[in-house]
Amino acid sequence: MGASANEVKAFLERHYGEKKETLKQEAYQDLERTLTVEKIDVTLPGRTIPLGRLHPTTQIVRQICDIFVALGFQVVEGPEVEWDYYNFEALNIPADHPARDMFSTFWIDTESSERPMLLRTHTSPMQIRVMERTRPPVRVVVPGKVYRYEATDATHESMFYQLEGLAVDENITLADLKGTLFEFAKRLFGEERKVRFRCDYFPFVEPGVEVAIDCFACGGAGCRLCSGTGWLEILGAGMVHPDVLRRVNYDPDVYTGFAFGLGLERILMLRYGIDDVRLFYSNDTRFLRQF
Ligand code: FA5
Repeated sequence: MGASANEVKAFLERHYGEKKETLKQEAYQDLERTLTVEKIDVTLPGRTIPLGRLHPTTQIVRQICDIFVALGFQVVEGPEVEWDYYNFEALNIPADHPARDMFSTFWIDTESSERPMLLRTHTSPMQIRVMERTRPPVRVVVPGKVYRYEATDATHESMFYQLEGLAVDENITLADLKGTLFEFAKRLFGEERKVRFRCDYFPFVEPGVEVAIDCFACGGAGCRLCSGTGWLEILGAGMVHPDVLRRVNYDPDVYTGFAFGLGLERILMLRYGIDDVRLFYSNDTRFLRQF
């Protein structure tokens, strides 16, 4: 019995060994074949995978929002299709007000002429919407698209982006507006920038100001970018008009506030030396790839 068991064992071991050897040979030959047939030239340049990137406007919106969030502001958004009431009436611009000429408007056909509708011409209507639904203290920034019925040229688009800022609380003064905008300009444009405030007029603020920074191309000496003035205008701002506060049931004897609105393409044009605003939304990837 033992002898035949040994025979079986020897038989199995021999066959197992032989089979193992042939499998090994075959695998080796396979490898040889693969290596000769499927040659890979590791010195060939790789195929690049094209990477998408964020539009320059998206980048600047995020960057500016980050700055204001760090200063205690909240980011909110609002409708692009707006009532006349929010875009104009509530901002002290009634139907026959000459300031309507500042904003050439795309009107929307509606059933009722009593409640006219439009594409918002600025982000300022969000001042009213925010104040209507909250009580002070208010600190918000509102980025978004706005529309104007413009004959487009190198500095005028019919659709562009603005960023609105609004702060309302007790004891807010023009000094707070200046401090906030100084800080913003320094964080966005660099520590050494100078900021200039001058009087300007917007019906929904009193006083109104225009804010400029010293030209970073020439350092204020005067060049083509700043049209020889040494200053670049970046935004409109002011103290929220008492009538605007009253309209949203804020008592102007208790609360004061400041607001500002900046054109984002304008800032990008200054930063990168872009000389035509129409490049931003004409979808030329050669332009967009650079950002
Ligand atoms: C306003 O729209 C006011 N709502 C700003 C404001 C807000 C003032 C809060 C006071 C308080 P203005 O019409 O100047 O202001 O436009 C603001 C910015 O938008 C301009 O400085 C400019 O940078 C940009 N802008 C205006 N029109 C165009 C246009 N057609 N194309 C591109 N950018 C434009």
